Amino acid sequence: MFEQLREDIRSIFARDPAARNAFEIVTTYPGVHALIVHRAANALWRRDFKWLARLLSHLGRMLTGIEIHPGATIGRRFFIDHGMGVVIGETAEIGDDVTLYHGVTLGGTTWNKGKRHPTLKRGVVIGAGAKVLGPITVGENARIGSNAVVVKDVPDGATVVGIPGRIAGGKAANADLEHNEPARPPAGPHFDAYGQARELNDPLVQQLEQLQQQVAALEAALRRQGIEP
Ligand SMILES: CC(C)(COP(=O)(O)OP(=O)(O)OC[C@H]1O[C@@H](n2cnc3c(N)ncnc32)[C@H](O)[C@@H]1OP(=O)(O)O)[C@@H](O)C(=O)NCCC(=O)NCCS
Repeated sequence: MFEQLREDIRSIFARDPAARNAFEIVTTYPGVHALIVHRAANALWRRDFKWLARLLSHLGRMLTGIEIHPGATIGRRFFIDHGMGVVIGETAEIGDDVTLYHGVTLGGTTWNKGKRHPTLKRGVVIGAGAKVLGPITVGENARIGSNAVVVKDVPDGATVVGIPGRIAGGKAANADLEHNEPARPPAGPHFDAYGQARELNDPLVQQLEQLQQQVAALEAALRRQGIEP
């Protein structure tokens, strides 16, 4: 357990520019507290102490503002920054090295029991306030922009923004959520704090720019004919 905590803390240094030292992280980071509580609650849940697990998770929520259902499956080096308002549903599955910011919901869209919450693959970053809903899969190293609402699978490495979420960047800029085309290869150990990247190739913006250029060309052609557009 302590080795796991040490690993969590090391990963936070790499992901939060505000992190100063291990003592500060252990004592003041609600994401760390929520994770410690979740590991205990999840162990109880798996041993069929369901009510005790729910109670522990409820106490964790009171302490941190982060609600993680004890049945949720969470990988290594999971980091919730700031934390308040995060909700993680019972059948959510979270891979290693995933980062969530405050206000993120990994929620369901159906009353049916069974798998109804998202699966996040390794290295996913989800911006503040984003909602990821339903039994969808967010691919490795994908980034979800703050306040996006995502209801369809996201390919590896894609950046998704807006409501409903659409692919805006990453190496998957030319893919779309419907066809789930392949995207950029995993980013490796490098982590972009706040999900920032140097390239974002929004296809909608590109189309608008093309339209602007076409309108300008048409106006120029009209002027050449002596017609003021
Ligand atoms: C989506 C995100 C990962 C993209 O980052 P990036 O690759 O650096 O992209 P940029 O900031 O250069 O933005 C590129 C374009 O996408 C738009 N965009 C960026 N984030 C967006 C979002 N969340 N929703 C809608 N549009 C967004 C920008 O307005 C910009 O549009 P433009 O090209 O028309 O000017 C990032 O903006 C984001 O939302 N990260 C989460 C940050 C967060 O939650 N921080 C909380 C810290 S407390």
